[in-house]
Amino acid sequence: MTTETTGTRQTGVSDAPEPVAAPESPQGTSASWEHDHVLDLDDFTTEEILTVLDLTDRMQEVLERRIARVPALRGHTVVNLFYEPSTRTRASFELAGKVLGADVISLSVATSAVQKGESLIDTVRTLRAMGADSIVIRHASSGAPYLAARHTNASIVNAGDGAHAHPTQALLDLYTMRSHFGDLTGKRVAMIGDISHSRVARSDLWGLTALGADVVVCGPPTLLPIGLDASQRPEHAQQALPPVQIETDIDRAIEGAHVVMALRLQSERQQGGLLPSLHEYALHYQVTAERLARAQPDHLLMHPGPKNEGIEIARDVAAGQHSIIEQQVTNGVAVRMALLSLLALGADGTGAATGEGGAA
Ligand code: CP
Repeated sequence: MTTETTGTRQTGVSDAPEPVAAPESPQGTSASWEHDHVLDLDDFTTEEILTVLDLTDRMQEVLERRIARVPALRGHTVVNLFYEPSTRTRASFELAGKVLGADVISLSVATSAVQKGESLIDTVRTLRAMGADSIVIRHASSGAPYLAARHTNASIVNAGDGAHAHPTQALLDLYTMRSHFGDLTGKRVAMIGDISHSRVARSDLWGLTALGADVVVCGPPTLLPIGLDASQRPEHAQQALPPVQIETDIDRAIEGAHVVMALRLQSERQQGGLLPSLHEYALHYQVTAERLARAQPDHLLMHPGPKNEGIEIARDVAAGQHSIIEQQVTNGVAVRMALLSLLALGADGTGAATGEGGAA
């Protein structure tokens, strides 16, 4: 166990891994977790989101240790199965698994039996037959991780499915905002850009509204999804998305915002003809310093990445004093540690499995 005074490490420090404390909610109630899989945040309670964020705090403490390793998931196998490119999500799941002591395999779909026509279902069953406990899936088709979850008893984590959901990105976004504001209740969060094709936006909407934030989404009408306006939805579709403010004027959207999140223009998912030109899009919807002057003086600027600088976000503000884009990336590791741990051990097991008896 390390001992520290005023931030200076003492001699006689042991290299033995330290346990991770079990999460505790801010209200002091016991942590809440009922999930076998992480598919989206629409089926997360507020308490479950807070459980993830609180455990992420503990995981950050692990990452700050001189030797960032704990045995929580020793004997556990995590497989990254990415059918689409990724830098942040894939690398952070790999790091998260390794810090927790799991065996981590990142399968290269381009050189796997998928190229011989093996289906997603057969692929996840094959990985489970080799002992995979958690399978992290990114797929171009919306719903692919849901299909996988129905055909395996491994835990499936959705690392982004088509234009549908990206729950682990949303949780790291929530964590990053909460680390600055403490409480998101009443905070105005403006999401600007290609809302239609953004799986991040959809998952963020569920998480932000669950934590009490006021969300405004803004983009050109062709990049706002049909059915976004709850007042125009039929009764049976009322639960399709949480209620949000909708704007097509970026200045009105940013006015008074505590957080401005620029979203990538997802040209790979767009059909032709949605925008007159990239130049015109940037002219009307690029997040610039001039436009950010309308936000709160202490606003945060976020972007889930990868970003197209000069299109949805100006280069100077992406690297400016309000930007917390790199913090988002950093926090991704701890959030994914928390999720892998909760899936493997449950809320009660996260403390017990790290040195206090249990499944270490
Ligand atoms: N934000 C995000 O999902 O980034 P990657 O595509 O690099 O994983």
